[in-house]
Amino acid sequence: MKTNEIDFLVTKQYRLFVEFCTACRRDKYIGICYGPPGVGKTLSARNYSRWNDIGQLDPFSEKSLYTTDLSDKKTIFYTAPVSNSPKRLDDGLNDCLFKLRAAMFYGDDNDNQDKVNDGCELMIVDEADRLSLPSLEHLRDKYDQGNFGLIVVGMPGLEKKMARYPQFYSRVGFSHAYNPLSDEEMEFVLRHHWEKLGLSLRLDDFTDKEAVSSVIRVTTGNFRLVNRLFSQIKRIMAINDLSSISKEVVESARRCLVIGVN
Ligand SMILES: Nc1ncnc2c1ncn2[C@@H]1O[C@H](COP(=O)(O)OP(=O)(O)O)[C@@H](O)[C@H]1O
Ligand SMILES: [Mg+2]
Repeated sequence: MKTNEIDFLVTKQYRLFVEFCTACRRDKYIGICYGPPGVGKTLSARNYSRWNDIGQLDPFSEKSLYTTDLSDKKTIFYTAPVSNSPKRLDDGLNDCLFKLRAAMFYGDDNDNQDKVNDGCELMIVDEADRLSLPSLEHLRDKYDQGNFGLIVVGMPGLEKKMARYPQFYSRVGFSHAYNPLSDEEMEFVLRHHWEKLGLSLRLDDFTDKEAVSSVIRVTTGNFRLVNRLFSQIKRIMAINDLSSISKEVVESARRCLVIGVN
């Protein structure tokens, strides 16, 4: 599923992530964000940096095409490639900086010139587990020479990996654990999914309550699994012409998911 096809939900985890980004940006520290796959790290970082829009900009096109200021966060989002050399990393980051600069030039307003001069305030590097030692060194050097905050995002264990590189680790100001959805938050997310299927979730209704418990048990608060489960639920409801989601529907949907659930 492409990220721009998803309705982004503002969860508590996202709000905490935003606070973390704001702190790293303000204090120009290095921050480490880690969490299990599928909890929403990448989507949160893309949303914070507005990278779904900025990432698509063509810096060479007419600047008047950009009608809104996309660059208020002054943040770039970069995904470390599977095979990375310092050169490749540098090219990738420069490309992102170029796009951010293009976004800052929106409209024809002269005031924008000052903003461009301020430049990037935060770099978010996703899939940072992939970074080789030379690339990490390069990143640190870029950070030392620049005047911005840096966030590396990865799986749990990233903070331990980074601790092995004292040069990098000594500059880390914050670390942030990105957690799965809590049960209360799941209710909020599920309400949204119910609505998307044209239903309204009623927790005083036993069938709904049972279905919600079942989804929570199957997905253990993992955002990606919730979305995958619901695409199956939608299919099963359509095939069987059902008008409510029951525990049985959730169970059947779960059986259709080959991996990731047990
Ligand atoms: N805030 C959100 N609102 C809606 N869906 C989300 C949200 N966060 C994550 N998801 C869903 O979970 C999937 C995995 O999110 P992602 O950010 O790629 O996780 P991670 O980077 O932690 O592995 C997304 O593709 C999307 O379907
Ligand atoms: Mg990710």
